[in-house]
Amino acid sequence: MAPGLNEAALSSYVRDAVDRVADVADKTALGALRAELTGRRSTLTGWHRELGSLEPEARRALGRLLNEAERAITESIDGRDAALSREARRAQLEADRLCLDELVDRPVVAPLERGHRHLVTKTRDELEDVFVAMGFQVVEGPEIETDWYNFEALNLPLGHPARGMHDTMYLDGTSESVVLRTHTSPVQVRSMEAAVRDRSLPLHLVAPGRVYRRDTPDASHLVEFNQIEGLVIDQGITFADLAGTISAFTTAYFGEDISARLRPSYFPFTEPSAEFDITCTICRGARCRTCGQTGWMELGGCGVIDPAVFAAVGIDPTRWSGFAFGFGIDRCAFMRHQVADLRALVDNDVRFLRQF
Ligand code: DAH
Repeated sequence: MAPGLNEAALSSYVRDAVDRVADVADKTALGALRAELTGRRSTLTGWHRELGSLEPEARRALGRLLNEAERAITESIDGRDAALSREARRAQLEADRLCLDELVDRPVVAPLERGHRHLVTKTRDELEDVFVAMGFQVVEGPEIETDWYNFEALNLPLGHPARGMHDTMYLDGTSESVVLRTHTSPVQVRSMEAAVRDRSLPLHLVAPGRVYRRDTPDASHLVEFNQIEGLVIDQGITFADLAGTISAFTTAYFGEDISARLRPSYFPFTEPSAEFDITCTICRGARCRTCGQTGWMELGGCGVIDPAVFAAVGIDPTRWSGFAFGFGIDRCAFMRHQVADLRALVDNDVRFLRQF
């Protein structure tokens, strides 16, 4: 039941109502308060009803005051409603704000890391440096080769049993004349042809590059790998020059405690031919599992240029002689840094690559 309607009660009611409205902190509470203060069961409504029982003069005077009180309360509620809307909007904008400066202090992406050359690239560069210091020139040849350069001119005619060792990838399904080179030896042929054409013999060169074999990758074989080829053609070159070069290279690249040895072997493009081993870099010659208890690891092949190769490119074998060698760059990286599995070189796991 509303208290009796009079001026004092009205003004104290309005003051109290306006204070309560000002204290409301959210729209739901404000809606409830609006119903309480202005709704059908509100004190104001009760007072409106009470007006009817008053004398006309008092009714008019109190009626005017009651309307003003009602307006004041409604205005304060509407004002508070608008203020709450503004606050809500400001809070939303603040929450949605994208402050780009914050990225500087508190990065939301991982910091960029500086990369470096891949172990194989580094190894190739270091090998080139060693040979350049010994007076060799660095040349390159194509990775897509014809049968002539990859096999034929290297004394590996069609049907030669040694072709079987190469597990060749053919590019043209209808003929076997275009291949992904299986070794860097075709660069020998290209360089000799060019030297004959340009009359620029003698030759002292190394040719590093990528080669391909149709192989199943395992710890010591990759389908795509890297070799470095060496070729020296001059007057009076003998097997002793080859042995001296291999030995000088081995200590220059692997260190004083690693030496090289040559074992008789066979390659169609050299005669005599040899395979060359270096002291096992794991046990330093003490014999271990990696070197099969021999104390040596095989690195590559070499030999004195076969007269059949000179004949293929038109070099006079009575005037010139030479030697060649070829070995795996990946194998060098593997041996020098004791990488247990060649596949780690192509897996691109940064935790591995970062170590070199
Ligand atoms: N090309 C041979 C291979 O990939 C390696 C090789 C052996 C290269 C003897 C030579 C060499 O230059 O004289 O198996």
